[in-house]
Order: sequence, then C-alpha cells, then structure tokens
Amino acid sequence: MRLGILISGRGSNFEAIANSIARRKLDAEIAIVISNRANAAGLEIARERGIPVRVIASQGLDREAYDRIVVEELKLHEVELVCLAGFMRLLSAHFVRSFPDRVLNIHPSLLPSFPGLDAQRQALEHGVKITGCTVHFVDEFLDSGPIVLQAAVPVLDDDSVETLSARILAQEHVIYSRAIQLLVEERVSVEGRRVRIREIEAE
Ligand code: GAR
Repeated sequence: MRLGILISGRGSNFEAIANSIARRKLDAEIAIVISNRANAAGLEIARERGIPVRVIASQGLDREAYDRIVVEELKLHEVELVCLAGFMRLLSAHFVRSFPDRVLNIHPSLLPSFPGLDAQRQALEHGVKITGCTVHFVDEFLDSGPIVLQAAVPVLDDDSVETLSARILAQEHVIYSRAIQLLVEERVSVEGRRVRIREIEAE
C-alpha cells in the first residue's frame, strides 16, 4: 500500500512508520512526505532515508485551494492511504472526499476527550487518571472521525506535560503502524461511527 504522510514538525510518528516498514512489520511503502512547513524536522529524516519530500506552504491560500494542491500531489504519487502525522491543519470536504475512508490521523488523547491543541496538557489540567492516544479516520471536523485503535496511558502523580507526552508518544508509535497494517490486511470496515476489525481466522 502506497502511503502519503503529511507532517508539520518533528516527524517522529512518520519515522516510526518508516521503521516499521524497514522491519517488515508494516507491508507498505512511503510514496511521499508532504509538509506545510519548510522547517519541519521530519523533512530531514525523510531526505536522509531517500523518501521523496515536498513542502507545500499554505500562505495566501484558502483551505480548499491549499488542499487541492496537496490532493493533486498525493494522486501524482499514486497514494492509496493518507496518514496525518502531526499535520496541524483541518482538511476540507474536497480532501476527505478525494480519499474516502483512506485518511488516518493520530491524536495524543483518548478521543473524544481533549481534541485540538495541547491534548496532553488538557488531560493533566483536567486531572484524568488515564489518557492515551487514538488513531482515527479523518473527516472535516477536528479530531472527530471513526476510531480505529486506542492505547491507554496512566497519568502519574508527578507527571509533567513532557513526561506524560513522552509516554503517550511511545504508544503512538506502536498503534499508528498497527492501524495502518490492519488496513493493508483489509481487516477494517467502517459502519457509521464504529470501526470493526476482523480477527484473523485460525488455520
Ligand atoms: C503527536 O503527538 C501527534 O499525536 C500530535 O502531534 C504530535 C506530532 O509529533 N498530533 C495532534 O495533536 C493532532 N491533533 P511528531 O511530529 O513527532 O509525529
């Protein structure tokens, strides 16, 4: 399966996906990494690995005009699954319709709790005892589409935003590749808000 990965910054989720592919835990290839920011650290990781990169800046473009350029680039690279990996933009209806049930996002909370920015800080400030991360299909709304996988992470009494974020991130790196592999294996079906994952039948 050909992946298109969209980033805005550090790119550690992108790197974890690339590592899963290298270790043959994920049967996919990264066709293109697109960043909306020229200084995204993830771009360097991609270049070092010889993965095609493209910076598409959003300045001066409205959401749909921007997304049309991104979709065109993804189609040019024959992308079959789009993975948002720290891509800090909402997608337009045009984008979502161009890849039906084929856009995933990772978010650092147990959605629907704490959507938006600073999810880990939100969790700490709210005082929850358990938070985590979510891989979900993307619709036009913020962190809102059907949920594919989640991992729970306990909040410790002495956690800071940094320590909690680091433990959540470790789980993000596990469940994102796992979710993509489930799609590769065609084991995922979406029924309304519910995502069903078919078990592998015993031989
Ligand atoms: C990750 O924690 C990801 O879950 C979060 O941004 C970080 C990107 O890190 N995404 C969101 O908050 C989306 N709403 P990375 O660039 O190292 O993958």
